[in-house]
Amino acid sequence: MIYEPTSNHILKAATLLRDGHLVGIPTETVYGLAADATSQEAVQKIYDLKGRPAHNPLIVHLAQWEDAEIYAFPSALFFKIISYLESGPLTLVLQKRPDALLAPNVTAGLSTVALRVPFHPVAHALLKEFGGPLAAPSANKSGKLSPVSALHVEKSFEKEAPFILDGGVSSIGIESTILDLSGPLPHLLRPGLITKEEIQNWIGVSVITSFHGDEGGIKVPGQLPHHYAPDVPLRLNATAPKGNEIFIGFGPHYPGDYTLSASGSLKEAAGALFGVLHTLNAVGRPLAIAPIPREGIGIAINDRLSRAALRG
Ligand code: TXA
Ligand code: MG
Repeated sequence: MIYEPTSNHILKAATLLRDGHLVGIPTETVYGLAADATSQEAVQKIYDLKGRPAHNPLIVHLAQWEDAEIYAFPSALFFKIISYLESGPLTLVLQKRPDALLAPNVTAGLSTVALRVPFHPVAHALLKEFGGPLAAPSANKSGKLSPVSALHVEKSFEKEAPFILDGGVSSIGIESTILDLSGPLPHLLRPGLITKEEIQNWIGVSVITSFHGDEGGIKVPGQLPHHYAPDVPLRLNATAPKGNEIFIGFGPHYPGDYTLSASGSLKEAAGALFGVLHTLNAVGRPLAIAPIPREGIGIAINDRLSRAALRG
């Protein structure tokens, strides 16, 4: 069920979480499926409901970066980065403290932990009210499109849908950038709104790209090539539709039947991406999509699209 994010409903959501239930939460990137990260039983419900492989660890969400030290060993680069970004669409992987009170299945047995402080006011209010860490992957069935609205979450899980807080449409619309700071050199594990160049400017150190499809290999269990998939075929870099394809445009040269951004704004396109795919997926016709420039958040859009286009 979907609930308005009133203070009563946020209280209710925190109580449900404390009692070991799942809650659908809005964040500025995509909606998350949250559980008490200290409870193995609660976290197991995430894996079960999503159909997520047990080897794919979850992101731990915190109300503020100061709490990171409770769970992990922060590095010098970590402090530099958080001095630029108080909260937002960036996940940082750190060495986990051996005494961290996190359920072992949150990190899928790894010695590292992924941490994120969302800035969405509803996510923030819930984290404050709950008063602890929340494990939350994107609130979709494993391998399917990420949700950017409360309705997407409800549709993903149908009768099994949890209590969902409605925080409106996710303003960024694409999952957080993941930066691994657990080793001697920083590695970009997933591209997002915060780009590698931006991070390099902050820290003055080169970031190694390690996501699938770029120069690196698969480093993270969750970097499975087939991910974010619609149920219908998707053809990339199309300049015109073929057969009965629906053409998703971008920019003034490719208006399409639908467009990610008529003006050619990559930020707008990222925000529209999963919403358009959710809508068109329901039509059932094959999809073709115009070329998206591989710069800025366009790198993240192309990353999600190339995974979505893989079949089987
Ligand atoms: O924007 C987001 O990050 C959203 C919102 C809800 O916060 N969450 C999200 O979670 O996208 P999920 O589970 O769909 O993707 C998390 C990714 C997975 O690819 C997982 O393998 C990786 O983070 N991950 C988690 N813990 C990790 C770790 N210790 N080391 C490396 N990668 C990790
Ligand atoms: Mg996901």
